[in-house]
Amino acid sequence: MERIVVLNPKGGSGKTTVATNLAAYFATTGENPMLLDLDPQASSARWTSHRTAEHPPIDCIDGAKGSGTVTRSWQMRARPGCNVVIVDTPAAVEARRFPEITRGADTILVPVMPSEIDIHATAKCIADLLLVAKIRREDNRIGIIANRVKANTLVSRTLMKFLGSLDIPLVATLRDTQNYVRAAQLGIGVFEMPAWQARQDVESWQNLLEWLETKKEQVPSTPKIPQQLTNAMTAQLLV
Ligand SMILES: Nc1ncnc2c1ncn2[C@@H]1O[C@H](COP(=O)(O)OP(=O)(O)OP(=O)(O)O)[C@@H](O)[C@H]1O
Ligand SMILES: [Mg+2]
Repeated sequence: MERIVVLNPKGGSGKTTVATNLAAYFATTGENPMLLDLDPQASSARWTSHRTAEHPPIDCIDGAKGSGTVTRSWQMRARPGCNVVIVDTPAAVEARRFPEITRGADTILVPVMPSEIDIHATAKCIADLLLVAKIRREDNRIGIIANRVKANTLVSRTLMKFLGSLDIPLVATLRDTQNYVRAAQLGIGVFEMPAWQARQDVESWQNLLEWLETKKEQVPSTPKIPQQLTNAMTAQLLV
């Protein structure tokens, strides 16, 4: 079972948006995704509760209840045929919890927004992943998602410059759009919106989805993602 953890202690960076949209994508491909919500605010759980029978069901397990630690018991509760678990994590999670939260993760996605405070917080998050959770760069498990990028703004350029300075792949660049807000209200992902409405957003996930796909076949320490594609998308947003 593939395990994807969405993590950034900075509040409001887009963790739930990334987790729920990924879950919606895997639901459309028949992977039977499950959400594990470690956030006491239970935003992912609320999202699934908005989902109607029109869309494939997505189970969400409330992992914040009980002892407060991440146990493996969730695995027992996964629906048969569940191929992917997406873990939504809370804001302000302390670095000392990173080893527990990232244990067994195939992928750790770190969404970051274009603001000075978010950039600073994300630099610490990456450092803690490497030093406290002991994720090795060469395992290529960490991917950064630039979120709410606005075309042609100074702060978005600053974010891209910062991300370019890290030796961690930028796997997606998501624009700032009400589509994510609407999708959250409806319990769907942009993949489940009409094509005329969300085509641009669906495209912005393709590089990440390909990266996840190629990683399944990879052994650790193999070459990184096709960064050219991300760069092209980023260039499009920044012109
Ligand atoms: N690309 C985007 N465009 C527009 N709105 C967005 C985008 N990404 C996230 N949002 C909105 O920003 C808000 C915060 O996003 P989200 O809840 O995903 O962040 P979070 O990291 O899970 O927050 P928390 O740390 O509180 O759990 C939400 O209202 C969400 O709909
Ligand atoms: Mg959240």
